[in-house]
Amino acid sequence: MTNGRGGGGIRIAPSVLSADLARLQDQVAQVLEAGADWLHVDVMDGRFVPNITFGANVIETLRKLTDKPIDAHLMVVEPERYIESFAAAGASVFTFHPEATIHVQRQLDAVKQQGMMAGLALNPATPLAHAEEVVRDLDLLLIMTVNPGFGGQSYLPGSNDKIQRAHALRTTHHARFFLEVDGGISKQTIAAAHQAGADTFVAGNAIFASADPGREVQELRRRCMVTA
Ligand code: DX5
Ligand code: ZN
Repeated sequence: MTNGRGGGGIRIAPSVLSADLARLQDQVAQVLEAGADWLHVDVMDGRFVPNITFGANVIETLRKLTDKPIDAHLMVVEPERYIESFAAAGASVFTFHPEATIHVQRQLDAVKQQGMMAGLALNPATPLAHAEEVVRDLDLLLIMTVNPGFGGQSYLPGSNDKIQRAHALRTTHHARFFLEVDGGISKQTIAAAHQAGADTFVAGNAIFASADPGREVQELRRRCMVTA
């Protein structure tokens, strides 16, 4: 992993959910050339969330395009069914939701055994306590700043308080997980999320609906730097 863990630096992770799939290779090249740190891939099964998107084959395709970390976000029931195939496809981070599986801690271990970083994602209404119980097992904590399922939604205003509490949790436990935010991140919302303690930023619509996705990546990073 080229980036430091647990607050070292800022990571911008464009979400390919909002990319133009007919031009996926070009769009990925554009954001990576502009300095995007990770690629975020939203995996939806039509059960955990009302939408269906990508599987391991898309991870495999992206892996051929870059050596940068591929950040898989599984919005699926029983994510354990996909740990091996995602590792084989080249995913670097495997993040799932605690409501989606019975034995969360076991699955975090299983992800790490497959050589991936283990992430836990919390929906807006899911208490931080889910993360606290497994704080030592986390490589990444993803605070959802919209209800998952779709790109292009608005950042939920209560999110910054939860990010602050997640940041405090990390400090209190001397933990080293990445603190990632996902949903409605834009030039308007990123600085406050960064100030609240987030260090890894997923952005879909803000980047890929803009006329110049590469420039948008740089602009999002700049907005964090000015509030650093
Ligand atoms: C939402 C997904 C997000 C989505 C973010 O369910 O988890 O990763 O791509 O998209 P924007 O940045 O458009 O809110
Ligand atoms: Zn996501």
